[in-house]
Amino acid sequence: MPVPLAEFRHADWLDAAPHLPPRSIDLLYADPPFNTGSRRRGRAGSFDDAFGSNAAFILWLRARLAATIPALKPTANILLHVDWRTSHHVRLLLDELLGEDRFVNHLVWAYGLGGSSPRRFARKHDDILFYCLDPARHFFHPPRVPATSNRMRGRTKKATDVLAIPSINNMAAERVGYPTQKPLALLELLVSACCPPGGTVLDPCCGSGTTLVAAARLDRNAVGFDRSAAAVRLARRRLASGR
Ligand SMILES: C[S@@+](CC[C@H](N)C(=O)[O-])C[C@H]1O[C@@H](n2cnc3c(N)ncnc32)[C@H](O)[C@@H]1O
Repeated sequence: MPVPLAEFRHADWLDAAPHLPPRSIDLLYADPPFNTGSRRRGRAGSFDDAFGSNAAFILWLRARLAATIPALKPTANILLHVDWRTSHHVRLLLDELLGEDRFVNHLVWAYGLGGSSPRRFARKHDDILFYCLDPARHFFHPPRVPATSNRMRGRTKKATDVLAIPSINNMAAERVGYPTQKPLALLELLVSACCPPGGTVLDPCCGSGTTLVAAARLDRNAVGFDRSAAAVRLARRRLASGR
């Protein structure tokens, strides 16, 4: 098997997308800012996460998705990683850009860690909206996860649309200090399910490079953009070390 290729651009997603070869991407996974209204900071980097309103965030995202769609293969998948702040708007945006019948799953990443509030149920999940370009042809390899029932103990079962994967704890070896870094276990599950072996994954907001490391470990090619120079440097380092 050829060594997978990984390519990074220190660029705005909107500027870099038109340079992608047409029909070259098997999986678009985007983990954009969530519009939390503040700057996200970590010891290895920071990024702006304030768009002023959900309408402004959706305008920002619409332009970037529209610029990327021509680069997707007809068999491609799209995973948009968002949370309660914008997921309802992003789902309507994807319906509009791709078609309601291109919706595949609303995945829930249940991550466990985090605070609680006396005023509501604790918010402990992100939303990953899964769409495809062609429901009759899109790639999907059902992932398997450890079974939890007593009857199935020690065996695996097909994953459901609720992915219970812990977020990265403070002591984890994979933690690099980039804010909102996602766990490799989550990206490995998504890439193996939604991108064929030898295919190409695009992460246009790659941050510390988690998606690109997952793709390389699974023998997929990867393309990453980020407008933060620190993020792109970190992603390159992680890819070189394989973790
Ligand atoms: C939620 S973080 C991604 C975290 C990443 N998934 C990880 O595991 O490290 C969002 C990233 O989007 C980047 N970003 C924000 N606006 C961007 C834009 N217009 N073009 C490219 N990247 C952008 C930020 O610099 C930040 O690194």
